[in-house]
Amino acid sequence: MSFIVAIDGPAGAGKGTITKKVAERLKLVNVDTGATFRCVALNMLDKNIGIEEEEKIKEVLDKINIEMKSNGEIFLNGENVTKRIRENDVNNFVSPVSTIQPVRDKLLEIQRKIAEGKDVIMEGRDIGTVVFPNANVKIYLDATPEERAKRRVLQNEEKGIKTSYEEVLENIKDRDKRDSNRKVAPLKKADDAIYIDSSNMTIDEVVENVIALINDKYNNSNVK
Ligand code: DC
Repeated sequence: MSFIVAIDGPAGAGKGTITKKVAERLKLVNVDTGATFRCVALNMLDKNIGIEEEEKIKEVLDKINIEMKSNGEIFLNGENVTKRIRENDVNNFVSPVSTIQPVRDKLLEIQRKIAEGKDVIMEGRDIGTVVFPNANVKIYLDATPEERAKRRVLQNEEKGIKTSYEEVLENIKDRDKRDSNRKVAPLKKADDAIYIDSSNMTIDEVVENVIALINDKYNNSNVK
């Protein structure tokens, strides 16, 4: 039996950072489901397949092999793509790819398989609602669009990329609207998820909060 922690929320809420730290502290397997969508997007880019090409997408999905190593490295069909899946062409293509239903169906299968028999913390957009509706702990991590824009500008600066706050904020608001209103897998808090607004919290505060919630559930569960 496995113990599942689901972390959902919009881009820029801090899911990646928090999940990584909590996984290290509690020795949970860290599963970044966004990376699985990025692998499909990269595979399609490599093969020059557009989002309308159903048959070709099916072929890609039939053959795809995604491995997540315990050191955080991601392998796509045997090739280390850890850095490649964070590049701009993938950033731009992954959002439309993530709305293709057969892609979601296949990745759902892969994500459930990765967690089999393990204690995991899985981050994404629909983990508590679709992938593991019976997860032991569900957290919805949020932050205001303004705070998320601020964080993104800083992140870009660290990478040497200069972006304007106004432009980034506009982009985040646009994306929020699209992600929440789209027909396929809209971003939505599970009714039983615990809502954390990280806007005015430090990373450590969020980590301690999440760990306390997990410990509480773990001590009251029969997975020991
Ligand atoms: O978290 P990220 O930026 O790496 O996610 C990449 C894309 O995948 C993003 O457009 C949202 C989508 N995604 C999704 O639809 N469902 C998930 N469980 C995880 C990511």
